[in-house]
Amino acid sequence: MLAGDTSGGVMGEIIDGKAVAARVRAEVAERVLALQRLGVTPTLAVVLVGDDVPSQIYVRHKQRACDKVGIKSVVIRLPDSTTHQELRSVIADLNGDDAVHAVLVQLPLPPQIHPQPIIRSLGPVKDVDGFHSVNMGEITTSRPELQPCTPKGIMRLLKEYDVPLRGRHAVVIGRSRVVGRPMSSLLLAADATVTTCHRHTPNTAELCSQADVLVVATGVPEMVKADWVKPGAAVIDVGITRRAEGGLVGDVDFEAVRERAALITPVPGGVGPMTIAMLLDNACLLAERAAGRSAR
Ligand code: GUN
Repeated sequence: MLAGDTSGGVMGEIIDGKAVAARVRAEVAERVLALQRLGVTPTLAVVLVGDDVPSQIYVRHKQRACDKVGIKSVVIRLPDSTTHQELRSVIADLNGDDAVHAVLVQLPLPPQIHPQPIIRSLGPVKDVDGFHSVNMGEITTSRPELQPCTPKGIMRLLKEYDVPLRGRHAVVIGRSRVVGRPMSSLLLAADATVTTCHRHTPNTAELCSQADVLVVATGVPEMVKADWVKPGAAVIDVGITRRAEGGLVGDVDFEAVRERAALITPVPGGVGPMTIAMLLDNACLLAERAAGRSAR
């Protein structure tokens, strides 16, 4: 059981994702300065296809976050009618542009463009999301270098809050390419015993109740109830759903689960701020690697 076991009725500690994200941003800003001293301006290119409103908002947030730490961001806006070939051609240009260190194709793409071949066409050395199959494969190694932003952010939160992982049972609910699968791989690389649950798992609640560390990424609002949670567990909620009546809700029944968990992420203010902080971290890492390669 974790330190701070709450089975005696004490409320679990709330993990402050905003504070940790601010620390990550400060570290990135220092690294950006070091690169600038070498004459390198870390540059992220974001490709935004079509008029999806949430995507426009996400991209604006990403740009603002880049500005704050000194990463240059360039947004390439393409119309909704863009063809697969046209997008491939834009990506080929970015792959070949030495001034661009990191490339992100904002998802979802319009229906005429299949995302997988587009992601495969990104240079793996510029794939800031870590979605290219080369980077996805790399993540199954014991020391993955480029990690997708959300799972990487969660690993950092667990580290900051001294959550032990070696030999502990970690349960991940969700098996998406973006969160669940890479999350399970990173926990395994940290020597946890990992169970991945998904829609076909018959006994998710029972498996959850054995978890020392529980990561929930299903998009089902308040799916995880208090009696699913082992007293003293660390609970990480990746979900974020807008309520019809206003406000945001996660995949965990926060108020009730907080009475059993030792540590819990809030929604908002938990995992969300870490995802964007890790995007900055990855963009900086790709620029550092490119600078290292050109210095050799
Ligand atoms: N759309 C929503 N989240 C993401 C993300 O993390 N990366 C990309 N490329 N698109 C997204």
